[in-house]
Amino acid sequence: MIVNTARFVISNSDVAKCPSDNKHEYAFIGRSNVGKSSLINMLTNRKDLAKTSSTPGKTLLINHFLVNDSWYIVDLPGYGFARRNKEGRAEIGRIIKSYILNRRQMTNLFLLIDSRLKPQKIDLDFMEWLAENEVPFSIVFTKLDKMTSTAGKKAIESYLSFLLEQWEALPPIFRTSSEDKRGRNEILDYIEEMNKLPLDDVDAGE
Ligand code: GTP
Ligand code: MG
Repeated sequence: MIVNTARFVISNSDVAKCPSDNKHEYAFIGRSNVGKSSLINMLTNRKDLAKTSSTPGKTLLINHFLVNDSWYIVDLPGYGFARRNKEGRAEIGRIIKSYILNRRQMTNLFLLIDSRLKPQKIDLDFMEWLAENEVPFSIVFTKLDKMTSTAGKKAIESYLSFLLEQWEALPPIFRTSSEDKRGRNEILDYIEEMNKLPLDDVDAGE
């Protein structure tokens, strides 16, 4: 898919106030600092569409970006940011969960994992929660430019075999770097395919 236009539409903390038009949308989630906003900028070919920062906790709200006037990308706050206080983390958790469970237009959730890290409990718990709630999701390994290609392959293989110890099947997997743009075409093609489905068909929740 070619991205011609991408623009910021609205930020809010309440799923009820998200855009009410009937368009497919794809949300990006993961731990703070995993590279969600950078990936969104990479996919849309825009440097500063989504705000990025080397300080975790930059994205605080549900941010909608309209692409090609036809579908949305949603930047969600990162979970598990240690420096935020307990109430702050709980509040972010509520916002995220309420969005995921109630947003009928959300066709697929891209869960980002830093490819350099061993499986982390917080991500595994989150995947478990997604599966229990039948939320359609894919895994996006990020920051692959920070490793040699052999180390990257090995890290992802061992992550996936860890998952397969508990899971019968794996969700779709994407290998990415926002620096060198690998994985961009794969994610955009995947979105293009899902955009063809009627919204009602992709809605596993109802
Ligand atoms: P929060 O909004 O705080 O939850 O973070 P986020 O997940 O949106 O992360 P963000 O995109 O702001 O990136 C965090 C840091 O990682 C920034 O310093 C980015 O430049 C860096 N980064 C993100 N993706 C990549 C990547 O693919 N390669 C490299 N080398 N650095 C990356
Ligand atoms: Mg962000």
